[in-house]
Amino acid sequence: MEETSLLCLLFLSSLPVSTTNQARLTVSPSSSQVFKRDFVSLSCEEDDSSAGWTLRRNTTTEQRTQCGTDWGEAAGFSCVISYIVTKDSGVYWCESREGATSNSINLTVSGGTVILQSPVLPVMEGDDVTLLCKTKATPSILSATFYKDGSLIRTESTDHMTIHNVTRSDEGLYKCYIGSHGESPSSWITVTEKPTTTAPPTSGAPPPKEIPQTSGAMPSPPLSSLHLVLRLVCHLVVFCPYFISTLLMVSLCRHRPTGHHLVSMVTSPSHPGKAE
Ligand SMILES: *[C@@H]1O[C@H](CO)[C@@H](O)[C@H](O)[C@H]1NC(C)=O
Ligand SMILES: *[C@@H]1O[C@H](CO)[C@@H](O)[C@H](O)[C@H]1NC(C)=O
Repeated sequence: MEETSLLCLLFLSSLPVSTTNQARLTVSPSSSQVFKRDFVSLSCEEDDSSAGWTLRRNTTTEQRTQCGTDWGEAAGFSCVISYIVTKDSGVYWCESREGATSNSINLTVSGGTVILQSPVLPVMEGDDVTLLCKTKATPSILSATFYKDGSLIRTESTDHMTIHNVTRSDEGLYKCYIGSHGESPSSWITVTEKPTTTAPPTSGAPPPKEIPQTSGAMPSPPLSSLHLVLRLVCHLVVFCPYFISTLLMVSLCRHRPTGHHLVSMVTSPSHPGKAE
């Protein structure tokens, strides 16, 4: 009895899973700040192309406007802004026809001569993060000064600074300054918690060392076919529980002689007398 109701529940609860879809927004060049007149390409990487993903943005003057019709040039799943201007600064995201949204990206277009190249996507606790202070002018930068939340972090004798082993406290608003050129706009860096799902015990044996690159001569598949395989696996993973639980439920429900009250919860109530 309970097995059947459990299966019926499983069947019902697995239904929404099969309609789940997601998208991920990426930007190229991978920087949250760009110079005016730069070329920028944004892409929605989606699981389900039939969901009708569109790329949208909010700026100070417009809201939820769409690539291709209101700004930019749609090119497949990408959107290209070939000559970006300061009023293109804003928050960009992908949105499906049903209203599902991807991650969003803050893009700042600088009309000045200095930008800070910081990670566009959230960084994970424990990662190393490199901030690059870039100018349009001379390539030889003698020193750059980096700020977080308005306070000086440090001055480097190069154009970049690396924060090792980031923690949640490194999250904040960063900018940089190059003497004789000026300062960059500010960009927010988000630090996310490390997922703790498969954390191995730390006190026991040391974790296995990474397999040396030299031992495996296995050719890695090109990115496009890897993407296809991932997509196939994804579809299988989503569809299998639904398919198996449907089969199980149908066979169990059909072979149960009593308990019509339970069966009638999932079968159509318009044929109460036709139950086998
Ligand atoms: C864009 O603007 C709309 C309308 O003001 C708002 O509801 C939405 O949250 C904004 N989206 C983002 C990602 O900021
Ligand atoms: C975008 O910028 C705003 C304001 O600086 C910040 O609150 C928000 O978290 C940023 N969003 C992302 C995705 O970085």
